[in-house]
Amino acid sequence: MRIPIIAGNWKMYKNEAEAFELGAELKKRLEDVVSLKIVLCPPFTALFSVKKAIEGSNLFLGAQNMHWEDQGAYTGEISAKMLMSLGCSFVILGHSERRIHFGETNEMTNKKLKKAIEIGLSPILCVGEKLEQRETEKTEEVVEKQLEGAFEGLKEIEAEKVVIAYEPVWAIGTGKTATPKQANEVHRFIREKLGLLYKDEIAEKVNILYGGSVKPENSNELLSEPDIDGALVGGASLKADSFEKIVRSKLS
Ligand code: 13P
Repeated sequence: MRIPIIAGNWKMYKNEAEAFELGAELKKRLEDVVSLKIVLCPPFTALFSVKKAIEGSNLFLGAQNMHWEDQGAYTGEISAKMLMSLGCSFVILGHSERRIHFGETNEMTNKKLKKAIEIGLSPILCVGEKLEQRETEKTEEVVEKQLEGAFEGLKEIEAEKVVIAYEPVWAIGTGKTATPKQANEVHRFIREKLGLLYKDEIAEKVNILYGGSVKPENSNELLSEPDIDGALVGGASLKADSFEKIVRSKLS
C-alpha cells in the first residue's frame, strides 16, 4: 500500500524566521494528520529552523537539492550526509528549475539519486515535459528518457524507494494545471514504464506525485485520480492556509 505524500517545495522563499513561523504553524494545524506523509522542503538556510519548528511532530523535513559526493572541494554545494545529519528524510532531485537554470542533466540526477538512497534519504525525482514538447506530442518520449536516465543502474530494492513527481514544466508557477485526466495519463505511463524497467510489483510500490499549480481549488479533483498518489506543491505551500487545505483534500 502506498502512503500518500503531500510535499511543499518552498523554493527560494522564506528567511529563517519566516520559515520557522510557517513550520510551527503547520505543525499545529496538521498534528491530527497521520494517514499521509507531509514533507516540508525549505531552502538550505532554513532547514535547521524548520527542523526545530516541527520537532516531535508527524511532519517530515526535506531539502531541494544535493551533491552526489560525500564531501570535497565543491564550493556552494551540500552533500546527502550533511542533509541526513540535519534531520532530512527527503530530497527533491532533478527539479525542472535545476535542469533549466543550472544545467542539470539526467546523468547528474542519476548520480544524486544513487547517493541519496545509499545515505538513506528518500529522493523525490522530478520529471516532466516543456510546453513545446507537449504540443508536439513528445511528452511520453521526454518523460521516458528522464526516467531511463535517472534509474540507470538502480537495483529493484533501490528503485522502489524513489518517489516520482510528475511536473509538467508548462504548469509550474503559471497557474495552468494539467487536467486530472491529462495528469493521470502520464502517471499511468510512468508506472507502466517502471513496470518494464523493473516489474509491476516494484512499480506498484512507487509513489507518483503531481506538481504544477496545485492549489486548494484543484487539489481535490487531482488527488482523486487513481494514479496520483500525492502532490508536490510550490506557491501554495508558502501559506499555512492553502497548504493545509491541500493536505486535507487528500483526506476527504
Ligand atoms: P507551483 O505549485 O508554484 O506551480 O510549483 C510547482 C513546483 O515546481 C513544485 O516543485
